[in-house]
Amino acid sequence: MHEANQTTGGCTECPARVVCRCLGIREDTVVDAVVNLELRTLKELRQHTGAGDGCMACHRLLKRYLERYACSSSVPS
Ligand code: FES
Repeated sequence: MHEANQTTGGCTECPARVVCRCLGIREDTVVDAVVNLELRTLKELRQHTGAGDGCMACHRLLKRYLERYACSSSVPS
């Protein structure tokens, strides 16, 4: 059952926010790709998710996700 009486303005029901509006790529998609596919660069992220292939306004944000979620400890040998 859904409660229609929400007055907080919070985004408690959003599964994830959209990171790249041009392509409609959501945060969880980006984070998922970075973590599971071990992406390290914006170019890889674009190839795998499509994020950042439009106006490029989201590139700064995408880089932040890469910095935050790319596992720097798993260096390929
Ligand atoms: S918002 Fe990501 S390319 Fe435009």
